[in-house]
Amino acid sequence: MTETPTPKEVLSSLHYSAETERVIPTCLKIGGFKLANPVALAPMAGVTDLPMRELCVELGAGMAVAEMLTSDPKLLASRKSSLRRRHSAKGGLRSVQIVGSEPQQLANAARLNADDGADVIDINMGCPAKKVCKKAAGSALLADEDRVAEILKAVVSAVDVPVTLKIRTGVSPQQRNGVAIAKIAEDAGIQLLTVHGRTRADRFKGEAEYHTIERIVDAVSIPVLANGDITTPAQALAVLQKTGAAGIMIGRAALGRPWLPGAIAQSLAGLRTPLPSLAERFLQMRCHLTALHDFHGDFMGVRIARKHVGWFIDAIENDVASSFTEWKRHFNALQDADAQQTLLQTLELRCTDNPSALRNNELAA
Ligand SMILES: Cc1cc2nc3c(=O)[nH]c(=O)nc-3n(C[C@H](O)[C@H](O)[C@H](O)COP(=O)(O)O)c2cc1C
Repeated sequence: MTETPTPKEVLSSLHYSAETERVIPTCLKIGGFKLANPVALAPMAGVTDLPMRELCVELGAGMAVAEMLTSDPKLLASRKSSLRRRHSAKGGLRSVQIVGSEPQQLANAARLNADDGADVIDINMGCPAKKVCKKAAGSALLADEDRVAEILKAVVSAVDVPVTLKIRTGVSPQQRNGVAIAKIAEDAGIQLLTVHGRTRADRFKGEAEYHTIERIVDAVSIPVLANGDITTPAQALAVLQKTGAAGIMIGRAALGRPWLPGAIAQSLAGLRTPLPSLAERFLQMRCHLTALHDFHGDFMGVRIARKHVGWFIDAIENDVASSFTEWKRHFNALQDADAQQTLLQTLELRCTDNPSALRNNELAA
């Protein structure tokens, strides 16, 4: 069975010498909160709902940030926003991310969420989505440093809980103003900064760069989480070594792999831990499926489950060296929660009984 490498093993494979080694963080402080480890699950709209956050935290993520929530009070009563406002003790530290462009509206949203029990308010200045940016919110704000300062001051003074900020490295490769934004954030009283190593103009193109994150870490004394394209314990360690960040945030690599942030945290802590077996991963997915059906209701739950099971199947395809395109197609056509569970169980039996014999055409009738 594959095991997570220890930092020593990773470092030797990366050819780091003892002099260049940085101390790897083992915990993370956000204001008065101390997290068990410095590996966070990234906020992902349409993905990090309560079931996903609970699962990732149960499997060892230090924190799981909720999906961005509008600061527009007119939209808060919608079904989508109501579900995004749900939290539980099992989901760990309640970090509620708000998005908007008006300082007072964001301050009011922060107050509302803090009154609702948020432990931390996170402000989204990293999202490049057109829907968000056309209202000059998300990463579009990075181009207006005065407004950034106004928003951050308004939100920080509105609540007693710690306020954190998520940004990109700047507006564009020609205007990487991440360092300036980070200093504004520190001056405004922001207590933790997450930096995705791409600019707004990059969207998700190309590879994340960590040099600007390193410059930001050097420029401020608040903790910084490095984010972007981290998919393995070795990469996590390399990014921490390169940037000196206080922790890392994992997004897309956790799709279909809710155990990954926890496994990375274990590895960073120097523990050589086995990666979950196929049987364990199926068990996690079956519990996740039940939680999605319960949380979203049968109609929406069945639809939302399709993408999670799709990612899960993509993630195990590599391990059993087989293609499951037909299984996914079949799963996506199912309209019923019980039928989804049954198909997942059948796939599990086929995978665990005889993975090498598994082929698309072995679909259960
Ligand atoms: C489907 C999806 C939804 C996202 N939603 C949000 C969001 O609500 N708030 C936010 O700050 N970033 C959001 N992001 C960006 C991620 O938090 C993260 O910064 C980005 O994916 C880079 O990290 P990664 O390479 O580990 O995925 C989203 C990303 C994806 C793929």
